[in-house]
Amino acid sequence: MPTPLPVLAFGGDYNPEQWPREVQEEDRRAMGEAGVDLVTLGVFSWAFLQPEPDRWDFGWLDEQMDDLHAAGIRVDLATATASPPPWLTQRHPEILPVTQDGRTLWPGARQGYCPSSPVFREHALTLCRTMGERYADHPALALWHVSNELGCHNARCYCDVSAAAFRDWLRRRYDDDVDRLNHAWGTAFWSQRYGDFEQVLPPRVAPAWANPTQQLDFMRFSSDQLLDNFVAERDVLRAVSPGVPVTTNFMVMRNTVAMDYLRWGRELDVVSNDHYLLAEDPHSHHELAFSADLTRGTAGGRPWLLMEHSTSAVNWQPRNIAKRPGEMARSSLAHVARGADAVLFFQWRASRAGAEKFHSGLMPHAGTDTRLWREVCELSGILDAIEEVAGSAPRNQAAILFDWEAWWSCELDSHPSIDVRYRDRAEDFHRALTVLGVGVDVVHPSADLSSYDLVVVPTLYLVTDEGAAAVAAAAERGATVVVTYFSGIVDPHDHVRLGGYPGAFRDLLGVRSTEFLPLRSGETVRVEGLADAGLDADTWSEDLELAGATAVATYADGPARGLPAVTRREVGSGAAWYVATRLSPEGTDRLVEQLVAESGVERLPGAGPDVEVTRRVGDNASWLFVINHGDSDATVPVRGTDLVGGQDVDGDLVVPAGRVAVVREA
Ligand code: GAL
Ligand code: ZN
Repeated sequence: MPTPLPVLAFGGDYNPEQWPREVQEEDRRAMGEAGVDLVTLGVFSWAFLQPEPDRWDFGWLDEQMDDLHAAGIRVDLATATASPPPWLTQRHPEILPVTQDGRTLWPGARQGYCPSSPVFREHALTLCRTMGERYADHPALALWHVSNELGCHNARCYCDVSAAAFRDWLRRRYDDDVDRLNHAWGTAFWSQRYGDFEQVLPPRVAPAWANPTQQLDFMRFSSDQLLDNFVAERDVLRAVSPGVPVTTNFMVMRNTVAMDYLRWGRELDVVSNDHYLLAEDPHSHHELAFSADLTRGTAGGRPWLLMEHSTSAVNWQPRNIAKRPGEMARSSLAHVARGADAVLFFQWRASRAGAEKFHSGLMPHAGTDTRLWREVCELSGILDAIEEVAGSAPRNQAAILFDWEAWWSCELDSHPSIDVRYRDRAEDFHRALTVLGVGVDVVHPSADLSSYDLVVVPTLYLVTDEGAAAVAAAAERGATVVVTYFSGIVDPHDHVRLGGYPGAFRDLLGVRSTEFLPLRSGETVRVEGLADAGLDADTWSEDLELAGATAVATYADGPARGLPAVTRREVGSGAAWYVATRLSPEGTDRLVEQLVAESGVERLPGAGPDVEVTRRVGDNASWLFVINHGDSDATVPVRGTDLVGGQDVDGDLVVPAGRVAVVREA
């Protein structure tokens, strides 16, 4: 019978096949010292497990499983299908992925396969089934880890096999009726009309801009194909290893766009995520906070597992900035604060060879007599001290709507301005709310919005009629709703909603825009009405007319001089605001202060630009997380017990610069 995962599991990817036996023995001793209780095994082991088509070698993995079990360490066992071995691509070069301009990618790195390849699928499922049958009853097994970061390097393949799969997908989407496809894709334009599905191709590099709906459908298709790979392995595992939860690690972070994780989440027994800070961003804790809240969104609000992050530097950015003292623990606990019930890293021991040899690990090249190792052990101790938070989750009154389809379509070519980036407004509103101590859920527009008093709709370029209606219903019912520019512009076929912008939200907002007035690169406009001295905005303005709303702020200059830049309309028992420009961070702050006050959402005291204060709520208790990223002490009023410091507090809790507190509230 499967036994549950360790509580607030701590550990990481373990690749013992890279090391001799003596090192593996030392690994288990050091894992004990660091309190590691879960490792991810086998992620890139296919070439070891199946060295030849008809030869299997499980001896080494059997030993690892047994030895780890004897050491009291549980295993998140990978199905090992992430990277095909050289013999497979040598025999079947047709499984290699092909880029948009028709280049076949060579083997020699990782994830070199076409997600639509039936040959790859067959070999992967054989391996998956063999693994599943062999280890289903092993006492070390805690979790199945399908593939690894599906789509990390091969998200969209343009080969002929993928083209045929795309056509099948389109036949299903358009009920085998090519005229429905013609309508959806707007092929009356540029002589693109198709007479038959057989004429349709992926959006390969063409002389000019490819049909936007063809591109959008190909993005949908590509995400679905990857998800299909997951589902196929999951179903094999469920059959041969019933009761053991199945996950695959997401990559919810700033630049991961290709997978629609809000749809994927429903297919996983437990969501897990990999998150890496972008070193060039000096305020990366804001991006982390947004991504962690979005990850919880993919998990339907339930706790999730932080499958990978780094103890310090990574290897794959142009400049791989090391974490400074205390930073690893702050990052880890920031994820826990937002619902992570495990803190795992890539990887246990920094590699000696290979592309990732300069990637940090729990065990650095320099060994255990290091600051990093001491911080690893300290973090593990903190997790032990706060174990009781496991299973609880944030409960928030504010939501930000997020949709991968809106992201894909918003950033297609041939748009009014390349400076409109989908995650930009979502992250900035999230930052402004977080700074005020407001907890935020990041959810799909189809989520139940009935418990939210504040709903932020950033750059929701593509929206369904139902999505737009749900936003309007939230305002009617009493919520404060705020919509930002380039929202509600198109329907799910990427067809413009006519009659003036922002089409789907025009009536709700009581405004009508007759023309977009995007700004030049580097150009700013002055906006008056949100702050005494006025504020800068950039990127965007509009020819906006009031049609029931009142102007809250106005452009003082620029192409929309004298026109409303921010508007508000009373709706039912709530209100609907529109923001027709890209406010500076200070402008977003001023606006969000008003939205928070109007909506009455709870603010946790003590939060600020460098101090995160969030709450997880359980059945009988609640916990405040205070994460001080700043250079000076933070003071937060609390009543309860700080589990990290081990002290009761009734009044001001002082959290020193760079440190963390987790308070069970009295
Ligand atoms: C992830 C991956 C790991 C490792 C890590 C490096 O993409 O799952 O195997 O490559 O990044 O940061
Ligand atoms: Zn392909």
